[in-house]
Amino acid sequence: MTKTPIAVLISGRGSNMNALIEACARPDYPARIALVMSNNPDAPGLETARLAGLTTLAIDHRLFPRDREGHEKAIDAALAEAGIEVICLAGYMRVLTPYLVSRWKGRMLNIHPSLLPAYPGLDTHARALEAGDTEHGCTVHLVTDGVDEGPILRQARVPIHGDDTPQSLASRVLEQEHVLYPAALSEFLSHT
Ligand code: GRF
Repeated sequence: MTKTPIAVLISGRGSNMNALIEACARPDYPARIALVMSNNPDAPGLETARLAGLTTLAIDHRLFPRDREGHEKAIDAALAEAGIEVICLAGYMRVLTPYLVSRWKGRMLNIHPSLLPAYPGLDTHARALEAGDTEHGCTVHLVTDGVDEGPILRQARVPIHGDDTPQSLASRVLEQEHVLYPAALSEFLSHT
């Protein structure tokens, strides 16, 4: 099967990236990771990717002070050079400018730890607990200009228990993220 070359963009530990690495290792999975990129040269996920034999690249945003677009132009050039067709943001902690978003419109996915449109932004687990919600989850969506907006591709739900802490809830959601992202990407690619 022809595997679509994708890039995974991370800023930290990269457990979702790892779930995508495992999925892409399957012969029948429709994507291959051609590049793992980070804005943070110290992201632990970069080492995970290297150990998996993947090409990695760090483009430190601190080298582009007050120039988000300049940083994104460097990212975009690296993506083009690697022949990337689809981007998966996986814990990429930079807000993107309209420059990169428009360049990759309809071809950039993100995973977010809430049932969007509920709780865009940070601290989603604590916010769901504070609100007294009984259900929480995660969302894979296409990236548009608004933060954590954009058409929803797929969601997974988990129950909230009475004794949950933000940490216990985060780990229940994360387990689902690792199933959801590969499934959503595969489904997305089958429709493109
Ligand atoms: C995940 O919870 C993801 O939903 C959010 O950031 C976290 C990244 O975790 N966007 P990891 O780096 O994939 O382990």
